[in-house]
Amino acid sequence: MRESYSHQSIENLKAEIDIVEVISNAIQLKKTGANYKACCPFHGEKTPSFVVSPDKQIFKCFGCGVSGDAIEFVKKYYNLEFIEAIEKIAKDKGFTLEKTAYDDSRDIYYKANKDAARYFVKSLITKPNEGMRYLSDSRKMDIETITKFGLGYADSEWDSLYKHMSALGYDDKTLSELGLISINKGKKYDRFRNRVMFPIISTNGRVIGFGGRTLDNKGAKYINSPENPIFHKSNNLFSLNFAREHLRKSDFLIVVEGYMDVIGLFQSGICNVVATLGTALTENHGKILKRYAKKIVLSYDSDDAGRNAAYKGVDILRDVGVSVSVLHVDDGKDPDEYVKAHGKEEFLNLVSTAISGTDYQLRHVARKFDLTTVDGKIGYIKALSPVFQKLSPVEREVYAQKVGRSLDLDYKNILFQVEEKKADDQNRRIGKDTDAKDRNFSQTEKVLFKIFFMDSSYFVKFKEDEFANSVVTTEIGREVLSLIENEIKLSDSFIDEKRIKDAMNPAEGYKIDEIISGVPILDINNSFEDCIRNAKLARLSLEEKKILDIIALADEEEEGREAERLQIKLMKIQRDIKKLKGGVDL
Ligand code: UTP
Ligand code: MN
Repeated sequence: MRESYSHQSIENLKAEIDIVEVISNAIQLKKTGANYKACCPFHGEKTPSFVVSPDKQIFKCFGCGVSGDAIEFVKKYYNLEFIEAIEKIAKDKGFTLEKTAYDDSRDIYYKANKDAARYFVKSLITKPNEGMRYLSDSRKMDIETITKFGLGYADSEWDSLYKHMSALGYDDKTLSELGLISINKGKKYDRFRNRVMFPIISTNGRVIGFGGRTLDNKGAKYINSPENPIFHKSNNLFSLNFAREHLRKSDFLIVVEGYMDVIGLFQSGICNVVATLGTALTENHGKILKRYAKKIVLSYDSDDAGRNAAYKGVDILRDVGVSVSVLHVDDGKDPDEYVKAHGKEEFLNLVSTAISGTDYQLRHVARKFDLTTVDGKIGYIKALSPVFQKLSPVEREVYAQKVGRSLDLDYKNILFQVEEKKADDQNRRIGKDTDAKDRNFSQTEKVLFKIFFMDSSYFVKFKEDEFANSVVTTEIGREVLSLIENEIKLSDSFIDEKRIKDAMNPAEGYKIDEIISGVPILDINNSFEDCIRNAKLARLSLEEKKILDIIALADEEEEGREAERLQIKLMKIQRDIKKLKGGVDL
């Protein structure tokens, strides 16, 4: 074991380095336009040809040709090794680097993933199989693309990978930690079966995990590697290793939701694209993105989930200080479909017309109100408060003017409203720390959790259901759900309620007892079906309301056809609701 600095700590430092500050510590820089200039410290000269770009965070001397980033400068100027340079920069900034003992034992995980990736590739390439048929026929992927991304195929046997890896000498524990196999009651089987495999590759070029897409709709659409010593979903992005090679040509990065979107865009020649690894965008992702690009374009699916994710993504990226805009794919459900239908140029057109993150948020909020009515306008302005609170005073004024123009109201009144709402919210928060309503399970959640405690196989069913997300609606419910998820990862077949209770806030743990002893379940299967049905109903009702809102907003003359389409959709939803209600007494 060697001692070194934690990777994360070095990454955090890198995210904070400002090249102008670093170089100014060594030589005197003079601002010229967007850049800074100086006489090159690396060769003798009288007129300055050494340029530092704060935008690109690089330096370049047009006299002698040296170039690089801040770390490179420090290495060269002070004649230091990489780690010494990092130490110096940290010291000058007053930044404390965290030490970790570098643990060579992680190497085995990298090696195992690499061998697994090779195995998946071989299965995809060497003989005809469903994976290849799906990728090339259904998804129109070229063999170059498939090879570039190292895509593979996990066959439908129960243990072919397990046998292969065991023969290579890997032990069960390593394979299970990596999520390549599951162990259930002593039996070991492959976790990825009959799936197309997407290796997730770090910027160091190592396979750190996998996403596997179903080919037969058994189980979740995607299974991803679990968090493990080498795989941290919030510290990595899919395809960042490729995207960053293309950033000199384009100074922005596109963030999409799906692996398939990344690959579809890449194949069309748009390479500055990344996706998160089956999770929402986190602050950490924001910091990473910021290192590579000044500007982020969010291009999420055009469904409700995508819209909500984009709204939250804007907040996160704005907080870390990158400029963010949002692109709306108006034809097709996602960027992959769009680019396949319309090609690279049209997609890039969309990129160039992407609206600012704030504009996006304003529009997103507007969707919930009928702006032709007075009540609608007032509700809208009140609801804008959270958006405005994140803005600087100048931005606040600019956007208040914008909203004012669109509603034909004086912008000062809008500013006033927004401020008043903010004060209101603050007063309320002083009284109560969190929204108490959200700290109690809903009735459906109680039933659902009880079912999981009784028979954990329902959890698997639950995860597979497309409406699962709508069943759990409260904050406390989501917390418990993620605790249950961890439990399942630990034991795979049994949920220890006591451990869940222990992991909860002590003041709330008793609520688990209430579930266990207080919710009667006569027929577990029926109760489960009811939970899902309720969720489906809730979701449909929400959709119904949204469509009604949009129809109310639509201009018959201009958007007649769209309104007609929505009417048809509305009818279908209302029919579905009726059908669902038919079976249960609600
Ligand atoms: P999508 O369902 O949009 O997947 O989910 P996709 O990659 O675009 O695939 P197609 O085009 O619909 O076939 C977006 C991302 O969310 C994660 C995956 O990372 C996926 O790429 N995801 C989705 C999961 O982790 N699990 C799931 O069950 C579904
Ligand atoms: Mn998709």
